[in-house]
Amino acid sequence: MSIHIGAQAGDISETVLLPGDPLRARFVAETFLEEAVCYNQVRGMLGFTGTYQGRRVSVQGTGMGIPSHLIYVHELLADYGVKRVIRVGSCGAMQPDIELNDILFAMSASTDSHINRLRFHGADYAPCADFELFMKACSIAASRGIAFRAGNILSSDVFYGDDPDSWKLWRDFGVLAVEMETNGLYTEAAKFGAQALSILTVSDQLGTGQALSSADRERSFTAMMQIALELA
Ligand code: HPA
Repeated sequence: MSIHIGAQAGDISETVLLPGDPLRARFVAETFLEEAVCYNQVRGMLGFTGTYQGRRVSVQGTGMGIPSHLIYVHELLADYGVKRVIRVGSCGAMQPDIELNDILFAMSASTDSHINRLRFHGADYAPCADFELFMKACSIAASRGIAFRAGNILSSDVFYGDDPDSWKLWRDFGVLAVEMETNGLYTEAAKFGAQALSILTVSDQLGTGQALSSADRERSFTAMMQIALELA
């Protein structure tokens, strides 16, 4: 057992899918996995291990934001021997040609968080996706006819900001979308020599203010999960 995950050694697969929402983890386990077993209920942050097409895979909720996300990712990598971490999340699109439901692969993650500044004594670390996972995700999406975009995203510490225009600076430098975890995920995976990739679906468009309904969220989530599960 680790502090925030009540599993025994061996309960968790070497590949873990990471939704922010623990109820998403349960939904994934119940909808896509066979013989899924819940290995964690500490703080309600549910985690499950089951099989997908005969291969063992786990799915673990992480909460929102880099600090919460890193608690779970760290314990998975440090205490349970996890080798592959795949975030499945939502994001707000910044570029005008990215639409609701689009799927993005985060090649790299900028941030307004100072967590890496603390880690690297004031210097900037450039976290990036694992190349092999990234290439595989691209080919799975292409073979299934699922359109995607890939590039730099922003992992922000702030959901409710004070300046409604602050995101536009990132947009002007080509950043595709904003979410709140990937910069931490890629850095932590690098420290442990693990493979990491973030797959995101666009749930809102910052330029137009459009947002997905919950039924649409479900549908776009399914396309993202198909890619993530095949990758796992
Ligand atoms: N900001 C941060 N995270 C998000 C957003 C957003 O606008 N949309 C979906 N995840």
